Amino acid sequence: MTIDIRKLGVLTSGGDSPGMNAAIRAVVRTGIQNGIEVLGIYRGYEGLIDGQFARLESHSVSNIIQRGGTILKSARSQRFRTPEGMEQAYHQIVTQGLDALVVIGGDGTFSGAEEFNKRFDFPIVGLPGTIDNDLYGTDFTIGYDTAINTVVDAVDKIRDTASSHDRLFIVEVMGRDAGFIALRSGIAVGAEDILIPEEKTHIEQLYAILDAGFRKNKTSAIIIVAEGDDGGGAYEVSRAIEAKYGQFKTRVTILGHIQRGGSPSCMDRVLASTLGYESVLALRSGVRDVMIGMVNKKIVYTPFSMATKHHQQINRSMLDMARILST
Ligand code: F6P
Repeated sequence: MTIDIRKLGVLTSGGDSPGMNAAIRAVVRTGIQNGIEVLGIYRGYEGLIDGQFARLESHSVSNIIQRGGTILKSARSQRFRTPEGMEQAYHQIVTQGLDALVVIGGDGTFSGAEEFNKRFDFPIVGLPGTIDNDLYGTDFTIGYDTAINTVVDAVDKIRDTASSHDRLFIVEVMGRDAGFIALRSGIAVGAEDILIPEEKTHIEQLYAILDAGFRKNKTSAIIIVAEGDDGGGAYEVSRAIEAKYGQFKTRVTILGHIQRGGSPSCMDRVLASTLGYESVLALRSGVRDVMIGMVNKKIVYTPFSMATKHHQQINRSMLDMARILST
């Protein structure tokens, strides 16, 4: 069964992620090929509330597949969390004559979409766009692969200077609530330890790892810390290490928003293109109120509530493996 969708809105919301532009491009071009008019909505739900729409043509999305950030801009909207904000957004949707929405973002974006749908019964599908990779219902989120490659590139450089100066570096990576960036990039750079929010940090365990390294004549080390780790962040870990090993010089690097920018990797471009394409087909076949993800190379629809509340689980055996391989 095909649902008659004539006008479709697309927006990006929450923290931006590399590959969002590739997803927008795919939504726009698939929409147009199916006879659908596509409106870009600027600044996420903020622009939806304020009526910041622009009709997107096929050429509007030329030359963006390789660009980081989002041409539609992004925001975290507090107003969309209020009944008044949602009313205003719905009013704009009715005024513009939109039949459906594609929202690209993370858990905040999808919780907003779920709540909006409960109130107004309006068709929305979501695409997982976040560097954090913390959404249930997709193996990888759009932007994660680029972000971890950015981390690997940066830490490889840090490793050079760490080993030249016999220093221990504590590198803090993004992930307020999730350790996926830390874990995967930590394995890839051969980090001596990886501290993530999903595992309680015991400083004694870190000392034991460092001691084992010293016994093997290691003179430098890299510790990767996720920003949401309960150990208090990179500076706290650095203080603890210097207090214990007075002779040992540590340095802290906070990689920060460099992880959110840059040209998307091939993986992210293909994932974003595929999910963007699938989102239009899904809406046309009556699918709604789900996140569209890819699990084991197959397209999977996950209700918004599950995608956000279940949270993707960390594979702890990878952490065990990382510690064995770096000793
Ligand atoms: O949601 C992605 C993310 O990069 C988190 O890992 C990080 O904590 C957060 O965004 C930072 O966002 P901002 O500085 O934009 O508020």
